Amino acid sequence: MAGREWWRDGVIYQIYPRSFQDSNRDGIGDLAGIIGQLDYLGWLGIDAIWLTPITVSPDADMGYDVSDYCGVQPVFGDLERAETLIAEADRRGIKIVLDIVPNHTSDRHPWFIDARASRRARHRDWYVWADPRSDGGPPNNWVSQFGGPAWTLDERTGQYYLHNFLPEQPDLNWWSPDVRDAFDGIYRFWFDRGVAGFRIDVAHGIVKDRELRDNPPATADDTPWLQRLGQRPIYNTERPEVHDVLRRWRALADTYQPPRILLGETYVLDVRSMGRFYGQGDELHLAFNFTYVHAPFQAPALAEVVAESELVLGDHNWPVWTVSNHDVSRVMTRWGGGDERKLRCALLSLLTLRGTPVLYYGDEIGMPDTPIGKDALQDPLGKRYWPQPRGRDPERTPMPWRNTSGAGFTDAGARPWLPIGDAAVRNVEDQRRDPASTLCFTRDLIALRRETGDLQEGPYRQLPSPADAWVWQRGRSTIVAVNLSDRQVRIPEVAGGIKLATARSRDGERLTGTLTLGPWEGAVCSSESI
Ligand code: NOJ
Repeated sequence: MAGREWWRDGVIYQIYPRSFQDSNRDGIGDLAGIIGQLDYLGWLGIDAIWLTPITVSPDADMGYDVSDYCGVQPVFGDLERAETLIAEADRRGIKIVLDIVPNHTSDRHPWFIDARASRRARHRDWYVWADPRSDGGPPNNWVSQFGGPAWTLDERTGQYYLHNFLPEQPDLNWWSPDVRDAFDGIYRFWFDRGVAGFRIDVAHGIVKDRELRDNPPATADDTPWLQRLGQRPIYNTERPEVHDVLRRWRALADTYQPPRILLGETYVLDVRSMGRFYGQGDELHLAFNFTYVHAPFQAPALAEVVAESELVLGDHNWPVWTVSNHDVSRVMTRWGGGDERKLRCALLSLLTLRGTPVLYYGDEIGMPDTPIGKDALQDPLGKRYWPQPRGRDPERTPMPWRNTSGAGFTDAGARPWLPIGDAAVRNVEDQRRDPASTLCFTRDLIALRRETGDLQEGPYRQLPSPADAWVWQRGRSTIVAVNLSDRQVRIPEVAGGIKLATARSRDGERLTGTLTLGPWEGAVCSSESI
């Protein structure tokens, strides 16, 4: 497969660094901890790690409020440690993708501290400022995605500044050529250090309407998310001019050898809009598909999102799939309802669709959300909306490595930054020893993907199937089927044999024309002799 870009065939593994492995007993995961687990990740068979922000941050939004884009958050380590991580990962054939947050900085970033010092400050127009309305209120009706107005009055200089998230996260003004130049420098800084690419936060939304027009109200036809927002955010996100910036970054990434990749958090809930972020092959390499993440776990719904995505992206663009991340309930809870069989069906499709899979740490052992009491909350959203379940702490809890006090994440005496789930029920050590475990299932599936050309490059074609089943062909001879129901289903015209099944005792089973799947069962089949 010479000449194919690594990220097409590779599996990307998302790590939330605070929760992966603590090396210095402060209860918070760190870069040294990740280095210590690289052999595990090599064993699992992943190709790249995406780290949520490791840059310096006051943590108003857990790293997504950056106060220094070229420094490492001390609690995680330092620049030298980051360079060691890149080198050690590289030795094992693993690439490092970092997270970049260009939509906003921290309010404690030196640029913003300067910007709010006076209306004539050098960095004033690096942010979005506007005069109050005649009644003293905010300049327009935009609301923050975290609730409340998207504007905060800066008393000292008498103008409002924009923040699409927390007031501690002032939005940058992407109309400013200086902001564009500054970010080119940040990309280069990390690319020069061997980082394989960036996951770009809020990639769809960084440019704002120049005239700051009011957003129209949401209607009954809009998604529940927009209805809760109360408006369609068409002027404070997804402006057409964002594509100029994405093209600029792509051109920059392409100057490197090998070219660095751009993976965008394109938080749009329709596939057509998502597809636009690939441009003419000159914008993002990969645009996250949130329509898939938020689809119900039902065969027709998932198959429809995939069919539409295939249509919109065509042969030349490469899809990217994920089923969990640090902002949504984990797949074991959200789709699986705690049922291991459902989780395996979800992982089976994640790892066998055409496109790059992004696996969230812990999903490989079936980690569910961990309930978090009020006193343990860390996420600003969780605190703000308590007791509504809006917080994101449940999906960000520490990885259970072993069934010991501290779960092998931290020392027995240390206090983890978030509560650890039940390590007796699931942990890496126990599952690694058990060939029937979900961890071994995930690992074997990744290995199968690596050795099966069809599963890497093969086109996707949906096949007719009974209701509640979803069946597709990849390439010449690989068929994948999942039964998302409580009833047994029979899928005709599948010959050959089962390469790998969610019910592992069926691996290697010969098929004579029909594949029978029990409730919530799935299989990868090959028509070639097995
Ligand atoms: C998306 C990130 O994934 C999320 O965690 C963060 O709160 C917002 N962007 C704001 O940066």
